[in-house]
Amino acid sequence: MKVLLIGSGGREHALALKIAQSPLCEALFIAPGNPGTAKLGTNTLLNIADHAGVAQFCRDKGISLVVVGPEAPLVAGIADDLAKEGIAVFGPSKAAAQLEGSKDFTKQLCDDAKVPTAAYATFTALDKAIAYVREKGAPIVVKYDGLMAGKGVTVASTVAEAEAALNALYASEKNATVVIEECLMGEEASLFCLVDGETVILFGSAQDHKRVFDNDEGPNTGGMGAYSPAPVVTAEVERRALEEIVIPSMKEMAKRGTPYRGVIFAGLMIDDAGAPKLIEYNCRFGDPECQALMLRLESDLLALLNATARGALAGQTITLKPVSAVGVVMASKGYPGDFEKGSVIRGLDAAGSIEGVTVIHAGTRADGEKILANGGRVLTICGVGRDLFEARERAYKGVAAVDWPEGFTRSDIGAKGVARLKA
Ligand code: AMP
Ligand code: GLY
Repeated sequence: MKVLLIGSGGREHALALKIAQSPLCEALFIAPGNPGTAKLGTNTLLNIADHAGVAQFCRDKGISLVVVGPEAPLVAGIADDLAKEGIAVFGPSKAAAQLEGSKDFTKQLCDDAKVPTAAYATFTALDKAIAYVREKGAPIVVKYDGLMAGKGVTVASTVAEAEAALNALYASEKNATVVIEECLMGEEASLFCLVDGETVILFGSAQDHKRVFDNDEGPNTGGMGAYSPAPVVTAEVERRALEEIVIPSMKEMAKRGTPYRGVIFAGLMIDDAGAPKLIEYNCRFGDPECQALMLRLESDLLALLNATARGALAGQTITLKPVSAVGVVMASKGYPGDFEKGSVIRGLDAAGSIEGVTVIHAGTRADGEKILANGGRVLTICGVGRDLFEARERAYKGVAAVDWPEGFTRSDIGAKGVARLKA
């Protein structure tokens, strides 16, 4: 099978690694890819927003499966447009991608499917939104309805903070749709499942680290590191999240005539009693959660992605190795604010040759033999070990072998999981 993978981040390098390992893979194209994916297939420049152009590329190359990494092309309807051309796509239709594309859509779905989630109200006018915040008090969460690359959410600890967030949102968009919701307490974790429209199969759990600095301080980022499995997601939490959250949501999508196909990423808040509530859905693998998950995968990824895309998941199983994986993001100093590009990164081969260590590229650029930093999140250094302790130790050994003075990491990736295992 010939495959086109869309995206350029650490998630796509990890997906490419597993797709290229599959005996089913005859050829792999990555658009646009990065220096990591260049070693696994053919990086290709394509205008992803031009769906007819992507379809033409698929016909020219004999591609029978397109795997979409990021959310934006899915929300823009790439799966629908390629399906019309007879090309199978791993990733949901535009209608089903609303689960990530619109917070209000997901909250209404939760109401209809009786999925536990934060109490909420939706507004399109500033004065009504402010009146609601004053009535409810803080802490309270303010969310822009549409895609905002993770920057549309304010968890406000005071009413003034919530009002400032609302003022800023309405200043930039006059009739913005805003969801205001109850602030959930507990520990966050993510659950990933493959869904082929009907059948839901659990992939696994992971925990991300969204804040830029240790101890969850500083501004939010796309994710500074992840580990899988997440000890907070016990077998019982997993069962409840599937039965109370993911399965009813997917049934409701099918009932509405917009069945969901692809990976569903459920962001959960788990309270002290082990009850999971849905924070949000994403219609893709998390980054860097994907890196940790892929390094645990024993099954043939391409066979699973293909079965998902073709509605043939029934009877399939996902086998994970009995190991733990930790991915530590190396980011450019200054991220998530301004940062410089172009510094030289050395020591990647040394890091990658350490037992249990895999170097995943994200924001890098090749210049001859040299690898240069070319983004905010630049690398994910992953460690796999028999347990979380060994996986962490290996990941940080890998980080220490990378010679890149212009980069930084968090030093506590996986620490919450370690604390749980020691408790
Ligand atoms: P979202 O884009 O909806 O995932 O929100 C980004 C982050 O904001 C989440 O990962 C949580 O850390 C936090 N968050 C969102 N909604 C809530 C909520 N209702 N209660 C507490 N934290 C939340
Ligand atoms: N790491 C969080 C995300 O991919 O949204």
